[in-house]
Amino acid sequence: MKIFVYSAHAYEIPFLQRLAEGKHELVFTEKKLTLDTAQWASGCEAVALFTADDASAPVIQKLHAFGIRFIALRSAGYDHVDLAKAEKLGISVANVPAYSPYAIAEHAVALLLALNRRITEAQTLMRLQDFRLDTLVGFDIHGKTVGIIGTGTIGMAFVKIMKGFGARLIGYDPVKNKEAEELGLQYVSLDELFKSSDIISIHCPLNEHTRYLISKPQLEKMKKNAILINTSRGGIVNTEDLLEALESGRLGGACLDVYEKEKSLFFEDHRNSTLKDVLFTRLRSNKNVIVTGHQAFLTTEALQGIAGTTIENIDYWEDGQTSPHELNKVAKVANVN
Ligand code: NAI
Repeated sequence: MKIFVYSAHAYEIPFLQRLAEGKHELVFTEKKLTLDTAQWASGCEAVALFTADDASAPVIQKLHAFGIRFIALRSAGYDHVDLAKAEKLGISVANVPAYSPYAIAEHAVALLLALNRRITEAQTLMRLQDFRLDTLVGFDIHGKTVGIIGTGTIGMAFVKIMKGFGARLIGYDPVKNKEAEELGLQYVSLDELFKSSDIISIHCPLNEHTRYLISKPQLEKMKKNAILINTSRGGIVNTEDLLEALESGRLGGACLDVYEKEKSLFFEDHRNSTLKDVLFTRLRSNKNVIVTGHQAFLTTEALQGIAGTTIENIDYWEDGQTSPHELNKVAKVANVN
């Protein structure tokens, strides 16, 4: 089967190629799927997408007109896909629900440690031969209260690491996880979580209930000097309100791997352009913020896992079967267009 792979980067192409060899023809582009680039998939039966690709209703409509009948997501999150539109047009969509939850949880911890222990600042000072420590004071995570929003696959991996640090664990999730409770996590209301946590880490999906879940009213409830970690989706946090809380000195810091307007920024080289996004410039220049460009998933193990499930999902579809990771229940008419 011929598949057009959008947003394909050098770090993942070898994994996909190896697994597709002898079965599928993959056509790669580094460019994102947009209304303008949709026509490039003409002549293919499926597209493989990442988080920055635009799979909104008009784009899906266009893909359908070019003969696309299957969308293989190379991500767990699917907030960038209009599933209802895909279903209406008979396009199946499958995701990669779990690859390496450790990759994302470990990155969240890396951001937390780097910000708290001022590692990037220390490195800069070291290069300048300034060995003073005055600006580098952090705090022990041991004994602190860590609030986890979303105790699913990634949230649980984060819970286990934080338990190892000796933190007190509290959590909020509409669906309680028994394993988390067995590890000592206590489920509380969101309000209680905001009020009691020294560190808050977000591991829930972006949807209509979680968009701007963290805005001014929630930020105002948080402990002074609390640290917020978001490795989930940018749209869960209102960046303007977050900046206000940081700039007024209410919030201690923010560790971010995602940003609500990341689509026009991340995964591309902007070295020769002036960034017009003032909000993002304020964010990355704040000394109490550490930002990475949606790289939490970027480990060899995760890339292997993503490629494996993506190709598996395509195999299922080609065989006329339903992948266990199919997100919409499209009636199967064999695998012909
Ligand atoms: P999961 O589905 O295993 O867990 C999500 C948990 O969030 C579930 O337990 C669910 O009940 C809970 N949840 C749903 N609505 C909630 C709400 N309103 N408040 C609190 N909890 C709620 O998903 P997984 O694999 O743990 O992934 C979580 C998120 O991480 C994904 O949706 C994705 O957005 C993000 N992600 C980020 C990556 C990155 O590279 N930065 C990579 C992979 C995932």
